[in-house]
Amino acid sequence: MQPTGKPSRRDFLKTSAVAALGASTLNIARMAHAQGSDTFKIALVGCGGRGTGAAYQALQAQGPGGKFNVKLVAMADAFRDRLDTCHKSLMREEACRDKIDVPEDRKFSGLDAHKRAMETDADVVLLCSPPGFRPGQYEAAVAAGKHVFMEKPLATDGPGVRRILAANEEAKKKNLAVVVGFHMRHEANRREVTKLLQDGAIGDVHTLRAYYNCSGVWHHTRQPGENEMQYQVRNWYYFTWLSGDHIAEQHVHDLDICNWIKQAHPIQANGMGGRQVRIGPDYGEIFDHHAVEFTYPDGAKLLSFCRHIPNCWESFSQHAHGARGTAELIGHGRMTLLVDGQKRRRWERGEDGHQTEHNHLFSAIAAGEPLNETESAAHSSMTAILGRMATYSGKIVTWDDGLNSQLDLSPTGEGWDAQPRPKPGPDGCYPCAVPGVTKAF
Ligand SMILES: NC(=O)c1ccc[n+]([C@@H]2O[C@H](COP(=O)([O-])OP(=O)(O)OC[C@H]3O[C@@H](n4cnc5c(N)ncnc54)[C@H](O)[C@@H]3O)[C@@H](O)[C@H]2O)c1
Repeated sequence: MQPTGKPSRRDFLKTSAVAALGASTLNIARMAHAQGSDTFKIALVGCGGRGTGAAYQALQAQGPGGKFNVKLVAMADAFRDRLDTCHKSLMREEACRDKIDVPEDRKFSGLDAHKRAMETDADVVLLCSPPGFRPGQYEAAVAAGKHVFMEKPLATDGPGVRRILAANEEAKKKNLAVVVGFHMRHEANRREVTKLLQDGAIGDVHTLRAYYNCSGVWHHTRQPGENEMQYQVRNWYYFTWLSGDHIAEQHVHDLDICNWIKQAHPIQANGMGGRQVRIGPDYGEIFDHHAVEFTYPDGAKLLSFCRHIPNCWESFSQHAHGARGTAELIGHGRMTLLVDGQKRRRWERGEDGHQTEHNHLFSAIAAGEPLNETESAAHSSMTAILGRMATYSGKIVTWDDGLNSQLDLSPTGEGWDAQPRPKPGPDGCYPCAVPGVTKAF
């Protein structure tokens, strides 16, 4: 993302998130002395752009006493070629090379590769695969007693969010540290501005606006020999069961900021959207634009817009309007607060949250502090899913109906033979949701 407010994806080593390391036995007392001495072992699950970035950043994690001694000991990906590319990229980095110890027998591939990563003695796992797999991978990490860094969003449907919340109850009992890739929550200046807003600097926030308008992202064209499951997992962005649609995959960052400011999640949503420009067999079933009106418990409105269409107005920004002023949070950089009758205050970004989120995770593990961000992150993920339920269905969707939805988007069956629910037509194109017709929750 550029400070201009124009989003650009995949600056991976610099801007993507990283993962973690930790205490293999969850011996918190031991961890209290770990910084600067003990080794934190980490395993990476999902070795793509973000996973590579997250691993880099976890390996550089530092606390008040200096750098932690972090080692990457295992890697897991659905596809071996992605794992190898990631391994090579990290080995090219001087700052990582000596911190990587992943022999062949700790490189795991396949759809269940994460299970074997959980069997290693890694203390911390970094869950960076597509969000449709997050609930199962988080359950496995918690069952194995690993500390977790996981990317957003946390799920793509109501059943998935419920699984995350249930697994988190276990994580809390085990005192596991969990940090989620809502990296802006880990940036000092964001925290300062958000605290001012929460404390009423502009009065009651009655209206919010949020934008993630950009030209779109990569796609993977079907290759000879791929079965349907392999194809959809390679081209995961364009299938709702895997990505949640771009409202959940990207715009969730804006929605999370709004929930953070309001210290609440919406109680209902209505909206409209569709696919108008990004059509054709390479683009699965997701929409290319969504516009949603969310309502918070106090009646405040959040107007949310996200678009993946080239040559249009681009913005990654959030805006809060209160009884006594306005806040503008533009891209990752500029933040301004204008309180009636006062001089405008301005902030720049400061240190990138993609690094500080790992610093905070390892510091929490070392200090034995139960830092766990899962619940608010699950609520922000559900907020985005709620918006999509509204745009796909064309109906007003309440929080309770969305969260308790029995519509499970996941494929039937296991492994590479599983059957994804979206099926291509004779022209290779997939049907997309039709408002007023589609059952979306
Ligand atoms: N916080 C941020 O700034 C940020 C930025 C980019 C991406 N992300 C998030 O990171 C996640 C990954 O995105 P990305 O851009 O790295 O995508 P990517 O396609 O580059 O990487 C995903 C990787 O996961 C692998 N994978 C797929 N299914 C798997 C499975 N079942 N088990 C293990 N590995 C599996 C893929 O083969 C691929 O290597 C997404 O949730 C995305 O929203 C966050």
